[in-house]
Amino acid sequence: MSSIEHAHALVAEAGRVATFTGAGLSAESGIDTFRDPATGYWARYDPAELASPAGFAADPGLVIDWYNHRRRTLAAAEPNAAHRALAEQADLTHVTQNVDHLLERAGAQRVLHLHGSIGLDRCHRACGYEERIDISAPPGLRPCPSCGAPLRPAVVWFGETLPEATWIASVEAISAADLLLVIGTSGVVYPAAGLIDHARSTGAAVVVVNAEPIRAPADVAVIGSAADLVPMILAGRRVGQADAGPGSDVW
Ligand code: OAD
Repeated sequence: MSSIEHAHALVAEAGRVATFTGAGLSAESGIDTFRDPATGYWARYDPAELASPAGFAADPGLVIDWYNHRRRTLAAAEPNAAHRALAEQADLTHVTQNVDHLLERAGAQRVLHLHGSIGLDRCHRACGYEERIDISAPPGLRPCPSCGAPLRPAVVWFGETLPEATWIASVEAISAADLLLVIGTSGVVYPAAGLIDHARSTGAAVVVVNAEPIRAPADVAVIGSAADLVPMILAGRRVGQADAGPGSDVW
């Protein structure tokens, strides 16, 4: 049996399926990944400058400009065939490291954003103020209308903790899954990547779809393009009853 046939068979026989996704899911929508050696964000930019509290303190305008550039790129992007195939499976819970909303734009209902949302700004001092923004015309650096501290994208930066409620909902969804479909992630950023080991420890099957091999405890790894492979792996799956699982994060 080929790896794709094996993945298809595992998915077909699994009842509850959760997904764990990363930047590779959105790569074929024209969104750069982080760790590609040529085009990845972290090959071209310093994460300490652009994605850390210290970087924001040093040059908040630079950080906002970079996120606004990414926001405008995302506003012009469309979900790809992998997003669409996942969204068609209404019973799936999607745990994603992606700050984009291409899954939601494809119609996915239950999306948990472990690393936050690029479509929201929040108060950097965490006074509780949060605001949805138009990513096609994002506002520049400005003060929080509630407390005067600077506003910043509601994403998780290096050194920051994950949103607690989203983390708990993600652990619950993966604990309840019979199979975890891991798509387009290098699986090197923790604690998020620990969810793959968690799935394995609770007895779920693990299927990896990625452009290159990754270190993960997979029953099967299918190597190639997510937009090609995900629709093939999910083809013909009987969509289960959507139970009262977590709703999507606000975005
Ligand atoms: P990475 O850039 O680390 O990994 C993307 C993975 O997707 C790589 O393993 C690629 O081989 C694979 N890939 C690329 N194109 C693909 C395609 N068309 N089909 C399938 N796979 C493809 O991105 P993430 O794993 O998402 O965190 O990175 C995790 C976190 O690190 C991000 O959420 C971000 C970053 O720093 C924060 O900003 C907190």
